[in-house]
Amino acid sequence: MPPDPRGVPRVLEGLQPIATGALVEMTTRGFPLYHLLDNDIVLFCEADEPLDATRRQRLAVHDVEHLYVRDEDTAGFYGAVASEVISRLGQTAMLEGPKAEETFELAAWGVHHMLDSPTVQNLRHGCESLGYVGEAFALNADIVGALARWVRSDPSQAATAVAVAAVGTAVAKEHQGLEGQRLRAVSAALLVHDIGMTTVPDRILNKAARLGAGEMQTVRLHVNAGLRLLRELDCLTTEMEYVVGQHHERLDGSGYPNRLRGRQIHPLGLIGGISDTFAALISDRPYRPRNSPYEALTLMRDQMLDWFGADLFRCLVGLMTPRR
Ligand SMILES: [Fe+2]
Repeated sequence: MPPDPRGVPRVLEGLQPIATGALVEMTTRGFPLYHLLDNDIVLFCEADEPLDATRRQRLAVHDVEHLYVRDEDTAGFYGAVASEVISRLGQTAMLEGPKAEETFELAAWGVHHMLDSPTVQNLRHGCESLGYVGEAFALNADIVGALARWVRSDPSQAATAVAVAAVGTAVAKEHQGLEGQRLRAVSAALLVHDIGMTTVPDRILNKAARLGAGEMQTVRLHVNAGLRLLRELDCLTTEMEYVVGQHHERLDGSGYPNRLRGRQIHPLGLIGGISDTFAALISDRPYRPRNSPYEALTLMRDQMLDWFGADLFRCLVGLMTPRR
């Protein structure tokens, strides 16, 4: 499990804090890294110098959790995360277990950065580059089954977002036949599906008991809060309108915020819903332990078939079935 990168880094003008975990072993970085030493910013690593073992060790010894990149290198940072994930997914000699663990974890560091600091710059560049990550997971569908083992060890919002994007993008490819730019746009929308959760107070998010009616009402506001945030930053795509806005709507009309039913819900809204539900069920929650993928799928078949439809459910089951 990665250390919690949300220890609050200092805000410095013209610079972006980057969790050191997101930079490990990046060999194709191409932008310099800076370090906050007392009150001064110093160059830590030139653009063409790898963050090698010695440098990483130096950071670990001093408990440094964040380095900094210049604002203008934000796109480079997300691009480096994406190309690192994609190149590892392509390594045929790597065993599936470690490959899944490393790629999901690296993707989660990138998503942490985007969701923890949802600025125009972060969302635009993050969605653009990290959309390729979801697409790459969907194109390596065998690895999606392995994510269940990984996601349950990291209950953070970014880890859940990566799981939802990996599952949902693969379902969108399989069920809707999407590919290329459209698939990447769906992947980006899935990564930010719960971005409105930042408006829900921590005392509710971390409550170790089931939520009361009033608290549930507060949580439900996250859907419109997410849409509002993306719209204000001029980052709201059509795919996000469906995925962010409808991922809690249910075919039988029992969802929220608009109690849509049947064909009123866009297929991408349902895909957001089924992947979010599956990722939630296989993760630990403060008020209940996680389910195994088998338990999650059984629960969904027995109690939630009217939410997403048998067809989409079969597609999800197919994804979780080992291929030969
Ligand atoms: Fe949600």
